[in-house]
Amino acid sequence: MPRFADRFATLPAYPLAHIPARKRALLAAGVDVIDLGAGDADLPAPIEAIAAMQQALDVPAMHRYGFGLGYVPFREAIARYMQERFAVTIDPITEVVPLIGSKEGLAHVALAFLQAGDVAVVPDPAYGAYVGGTLLASAEPYVVPLTARNRFLVELDEIPEHVLARTRVVYLNYPNNPTGAIAPREYLERVVRICRERDILLVYDNAYAELGFDGYVPPSIFEIDGARDVAIEFHSISKTFNMTGWRCGWAVARPELAGALARVKNFVDTGSFLAVQAAATAALEARHAFVPGNVAVFRERRDAAVDAFQAAGFACTTPLAAMYLWVPLPSGIESARFADRLREQEGVIVMPGSGFGAGGEGYFRVSFIESPERTALAANRAGRVLAQLQTEDAPQRPAATNAVVVAT
Ligand SMILES: Cc1ncc(COP(=O)(O)O)c(C=O)c1O
Repeated sequence: MPRFADRFATLPAYPLAHIPARKRALLAAGVDVIDLGAGDADLPAPIEAIAAMQQALDVPAMHRYGFGLGYVPFREAIARYMQERFAVTIDPITEVVPLIGSKEGLAHVALAFLQAGDVAVVPDPAYGAYVGGTLLASAEPYVVPLTARNRFLVELDEIPEHVLARTRVVYLNYPNNPTGAIAPREYLERVVRICRERDILLVYDNAYAELGFDGYVPPSIFEIDGARDVAIEFHSISKTFNMTGWRCGWAVARPELAGALARVKNFVDTGSFLAVQAAATAALEARHAFVPGNVAVFRERRDAAVDAFQAAGFACTTPLAAMYLWVPLPSGIESARFADRLREQEGVIVMPGSGFGAGGEGYFRVSFIESPERTALAANRAGRVLAQLQTEDAPQRPAATNAVVVAT
């Protein structure tokens, strides 16, 4: 048997990789499955993106290697978007890195900035690419629990000095998956200040930049003074345009930082399909027509989810951004046990908080990926499972006796 690298052995099992197979089996058994698991909506991509893809398919040049440069109009559309949306001026050639989905960029960036002995600060719960990238770079993740107490923010001030001294990268993601939290501007200013003082790379994952509700408009990290010195920001077409399967995103940073990620990628991929980049360009250009209506659909689903899960006995609060409800469980009910029972007994798929790291224990995540009606039905079934688990866990009381009960 060929030997595995020590580094490989540090990788945890990828959370919840078994769920698609279980879903298939439940469907095959005739169960009415309501899948509120992955952040992967059942909604259509913009027609402009589909038309651009169809046209690109007829152009032989679009079938050739994209290389790192990719489709230049895509880079230009990104630069226009960053300018218009965030008032951030970037050079489309030297400050943009086209990605095959933002996930690979989030993991690959670690290879340029981390090595053995280094630390990356990683939120917990969080998207798995941060820990994965860190471990693949032979570095150590230092996980910071995101809790309601700290408003689900990573407070660098609370990290011990001996850890911070070895920290080369901080991963942040706001609007946040899975908690739905947002980052106040003064918080981002504090983080940027500390990263600049210590020359730490701030990896800012902005995959949900366009999913804000009730007037909340997620910022770019580059709106914060000084962020251009230390930050690299990741964007995705996945959630904004319902294009998760197309695998397309980008990173923005000053040339030295963007160039480092691009250089790593030169050795591991040859760019995404140019036709996909043409479609993403069309999507970005159609954003004024597309995004508000799409956000309205997610907001309606969010409201339905909040109402229904609260009515079913869960104490969840209303998120202002992203596409998730982060639902606390009563203490003593483990999230994996709850999610397994809900799936196997009621056909409802949610993500147990523990799937996002130990810090997610005590919660489960609901994605706004099905209709309000189906989401409400799922909440109802979840309430049934909760009641059942609470009854099962209640201390067994002796049947009526005439013992005197003294309240203490
Ligand atoms: C926080 C976060 N970042 C990045 C991604 C990856 O998105 P992409 O489809 O661009 O790889 C996801 C996907 O769920 C996510 O939740």
